[in-house]
Amino acid sequence: MTTSADIKVRQVTASEADRLMTFLLEHYYREEPLTAGTSPPEPTADDKEFLLSNIPYGTCFLAEAEEKEDQGNDSRRIVGAVVAGPKDAGAPELMRQEAAQHAGSKWGRILDVLSAAENGSDVCRRFSVPSSLHVHALGVNSELRGQALGARLMEAVAQKAREQGHRLVSVDCTSVYSARLVQRLGYELVHTLRYADHLDASGQQVVTPPPPHESIQTFVLRL
Ligand code: ACO
Repeated sequence: MTTSADIKVRQVTASEADRLMTFLLEHYYREEPLTAGTSPPEPTADDKEFLLSNIPYGTCFLAEAEEKEDQGNDSRRIVGAVVAGPKDAGAPELMRQEAAQHAGSKWGRILDVLSAAENGSDVCRRFSVPSSLHVHALGVNSELRGQALGARLMEAVAQKAREQGHRLVSVDCTSVYSARLVQRLGYELVHTLRYADHLDASGQQVVTPPPPHESIQTFVLRL
């Protein structure tokens, strides 16, 4: 049995993009409320490409379990991951442009709601800082939840943000579970966007995540 004590958190390297994506497809995208709340269920190539584009910043981390196999060999498997990247005061405008460019697709609907959250939270201007390290995705193996792996991954991001000179870590929590987690870590809530209130031109909800998820809550940690 794997316990959190056997699990190490470390930076993702450039050669691990495929392993990281295999993990995210199984343990992040299937449940992440924006992905689950738009059809078709599979994330688009643009979405996956965007997440992987953050690896070169050195701001993505994985939690890896080392396990002894029957023959005595060691095997390592990813059991958690966080993807983060820098942003600055240009983020709301950039997100608006990206959302318009992808309008009509699943990724376009996701960007549309993320853009509205970005516009409402506008964290760099709100806190008068030049940049924030923004968390784009957080996932933990469904069998290993509740062991603070998500918290350890978020702490690795905060440590990297300090090293890189960012004054904030920000995160749009699309899930009630990630929102509770960051609140326990001392993050401040700065903005809430209810899914039921974000409608398209024809009055339809842009994303319809399953219960218990009701809103995107944007949180920050001031460093
Ligand atoms: N479904 C049901 N219960 C859950 C879930 C879940 N998705 N996540 C956590 N819990 C429970 C845990 O089992 C634990 O219960 P316990 O107190 O009875 O033991 C409790 O909530 C606290 O769990 P945490 O330790 O805070 O959560 P953990 O770090 O293990 O996982 C995470 C949180 C990473 C958000 C996880 O739910 C997950 O991977 N979800 C799927 C992907 C997702 O939605 N990610 C967040 C989107 S927002 C963003 O990515 C920025």
